[in-house]
Amino acid sequence: MASMTVMQVSEPGAALELVERPIPEPGPGEVRVKVQACGVCHSDSMAVDGHFPGVTFPVVPGHEVAGVIDAVGEGVPGWSVGQRVGVGWFGGNCTYCEPCRRGDLIGCQNMPIPGVTMDGGYAEYLVCSARALALIPDDLSAEDAGPLLCAGITTFNALRNSGARAGSLAAILGIGGLGHLGVQFAVKLGFETVAIARGKDKEPLARELGAHHYIDSQAEDAAAALQALGGASVVVATVTNAAAMGATLGGLGLRGKLIVVGTSMEPIEVAPAAIIGRLHQIAGHASGSSIDSQDTLAFSALTGVRPMIETMPLERAQEAYDRMMSGDARFRMVLVTGQ
Ligand SMILES: NC(=O)c1ccc[n+]([C@@H]2O[C@H](COP(=O)([O-])OP(=O)(O)OC[C@H]3O[C@@H](n4cnc5c(N)ncnc54)[C@H](OP(=O)(O)O)[C@@H]3O)[C@@H](O)[C@H]2O)c1
Ligand SMILES: [Zn+2]
Repeated sequence: MASMTVMQVSEPGAALELVERPIPEPGPGEVRVKVQACGVCHSDSMAVDGHFPGVTFPVVPGHEVAGVIDAVGEGVPGWSVGQRVGVGWFGGNCTYCEPCRRGDLIGCQNMPIPGVTMDGGYAEYLVCSARALALIPDDLSAEDAGPLLCAGITTFNALRNSGARAGSLAAILGIGGLGHLGVQFAVKLGFETVAIARGKDKEPLARELGAHHYIDSQAEDAAAALQALGGASVVVATVTNAAAMGATLGGLGLRGKLIVVGTSMEPIEVAPAAIIGRLHQIAGHASGSSIDSQDTLAFSALTGVRPMIETMPLERAQEAYDRMMSGDARFRMVLVTGQ
């Protein structure tokens, strides 16, 4: 039987290990994707450490998958072998639960999440529901498409659904894998864009990505600095630290919204009285559906949004993961397989 290389984690917190497995066959409604590139997202840590509900070991992480359809199962209309496709955090939707029947695709809790509650893209092949697929435009490489399928869609969707209008002040808190794409999307969506990160070293890169303003949150009070710019209509918080998120609340303008995308189990401190008068909102946001992924890829191809990446072969997944976790990646690690 033909085999493939995967990088798996066999118990919570264990190192990624190279394993040969049989190449899986797609079942009804599924396709097999030959993986060309897979981004390494901070959320992979929830699979690696087993912190996400429903993770079972061994698990193959990876939910920023770009490749080519290599086999199509029974009952899959509209997709064919050879198409270039991406797969993100969204594993498809069941069509029968209440959110699905109301048309809320990402409200579906019945489908497994690629790289989290099913095997993902740290592998040469991946089998997934056809409902999880997004078409990759011809002029976008697999390496560039990968990070757009989680880091990209999450920040693009947060901004485009925020209610903030072009010309208003949008801040991206945290300039990592998500944040460096968030800055580019904010600029291309027409916002006056503020990048907020710790220290001075990310300033030139943030400006290169198009940021109109840069706030070093270690050197100045981020809320006061945002107020000096007129107050933010939206802050997209991509950091992994709840205190850093809470520290921007005072920087919101009238009807300003803090959109939380970075994960943390710590509470965000907020004084109820402080958010009433200026009608502030705090909202969570999860990435999006496969058609949102496709929108993200198309918008990026159209406007020139591209991730800044460092590539490594699949076999060096542990090194890539460690580099991401240490905060040293500029800005997204991408695993590539023999194409
Ligand atoms: N909601 C969703 O759908 C969704 C989707 C994808 C990822 N996520 C989550 O989003 C977060 C970011 O993911 P990523 O892949 O962009 O991670 P990443 O590349 O590792 O970047 C981490 C970011 O967190 C910031 N950070 C780390 N420690 C911090 C601290 N002690 N204080 C303040 N900031 C700190 C860094 O800020 P500096 O720039 O200041 O160094 C950096 O921008 C993760 O929690 C991930 O799980 C959520
Ligand atoms: Zn992710």
